[in-house]
Amino acid sequence: MAKIPTVFSLRHCFVVSLALNVSLVLRMVYECDQGCKGACLKTQSSPSMAEPGSKYVMHQSRLAVSSSSPLVNSNSTQTAHLKVGERIINLDHGDPLVYEKFWRQMGDKTTIVIPGWQSMSYFSDLSSICWFLEPEFAREVVRLHNVVGNAVTEGRHIVVGTGSSQLLLAALYALSPLDAAEPINVVSAAPYYSSYPAMTDYQKSGLYKWAGEAGSFDKEGPYIELVTSPNNPDGHVRHSVVNRSQGFLVHDLAYYWPQYTPISSPANNDLTLFTVSKSTGHAGMRIGWALVKDKEVAKKMTKFIELNTIGVSKDSQLRAAKVLKAVSNTCEQEGSSPEGESFFRYSYNIMEHRWKHLRAAVERSGTFSLPTFSPALCNFFNEVLEPHPAFVWLKCEGDIEDCERFLRGHKILTRSGIQFGVGPKYVRVSMLDTDENFIQFIDRLSAIHP
Ligand SMILES: Cc1ncc(COP(=O)(O)O)c(C=O)c1O
Repeated sequence: MAKIPTVFSLRHCFVVSLALNVSLVLRMVYECDQGCKGACLKTQSSPSMAEPGSKYVMHQSRLAVSSSSPLVNSNSTQTAHLKVGERIINLDHGDPLVYEKFWRQMGDKTTIVIPGWQSMSYFSDLSSICWFLEPEFAREVVRLHNVVGNAVTEGRHIVVGTGSSQLLLAALYALSPLDAAEPINVVSAAPYYSSYPAMTDYQKSGLYKWAGEAGSFDKEGPYIELVTSPNNPDGHVRHSVVNRSQGFLVHDLAYYWPQYTPISSPANNDLTLFTVSKSTGHAGMRIGWALVKDKEVAKKMTKFIELNTIGVSKDSQLRAAKVLKAVSNTCEQEGSSPEGESFFRYSYNIMEHRWKHLRAAVERSGTFSLPTFSPALCNFFNEVLEPHPAFVWLKCEGDIEDCERFLRGHKILTRSGIQFGVGPKYVRVSMLDTDENFIQFIDRLSAIHP
């Protein structure tokens, strides 16, 4: 009988065993990356970032951060430091990821289930001027404004929009005279929200056109002034500046919430815009609302949205209603949230904490300056409090002329003051990003010296 060759020699067994072990190790690493971040690569806490006894510990990334900053764990290795230094920190956008942890802790309190047969119609409420407005969402909007005290809702029509961005365009359409020979001028005081000029002009509308800085606007005739308060980018409370008889005002109050600014009185304007993006942090839901005094203006805004998107997602409105309801509940029953405090107390504490560390970092650096704010009575918290805006309006001091470029050199992406109608010595930096990005931003800022 012919001898069968030995297929598996001892050497073969060794090679196969080695391959199996390597693949096991690789698989463990992969699975850790997918699902056991916390367990496999233990996070390092950032002791000095946490107030003594505070719950608001900044959660540090898996990457250790530089040991040069007092904000961070001193165990950081040199290799990790280099990796962190190489990483680009993008704080150009105002993506409100800072609130994610709160909503995770709320668990199923804001989960909604929408069966396949529900919300199929285009229509929501034929008795409302805004026929695509979900009654449940409208109820929660009114309730939240009453709880917070930041806007008068009585005698107002609610128009829902796909973000306040769509409502801004709806407002421009609704306020523009249809039979005018020239497009109406749209102005805003600098520094103004950088999207206003492009939003106004990108379609080259025959109805309205961007006319720039409100402070230097001297044309006769009707105009629309966009008033952002507190202001994006600089966080200051704003009032209209043109103040002429033929003006229409649109108040963009995206940031008029207790975590950013003291709530001094309920806003009582002709046309006010709000959004969940910055109030609760649900930018991805794309829901905003307008409080509109004039019925005809509300009708025209509704018409604009009808022509534009035939209404606004019901799924998003129902989800927004659930989130706003949860916020009001945490305010009315402090103690019901996992941390035993209202959403606004939670978010206020985070913003206060971040601003404190930002101011310390700017002082350590000696290269930049920050706006200052006067404390004021906040009727919501019933305390005299300082504003903690959603953005930092940072100025490069000394001979740094282009602050955006300078910070880009340090791998920090910001938005240049030029885009806000001001010079390049200023940049806008988001304060709403993840803890990881914020900590690394603070760390890097502190290390920049003149
Ligand atoms: C002042 C201001 N208005 C409007 C918006 C747009 O908000 P939304 O996400 O609701 O479209 C923003 C977003 O950054 C903003 O800062």
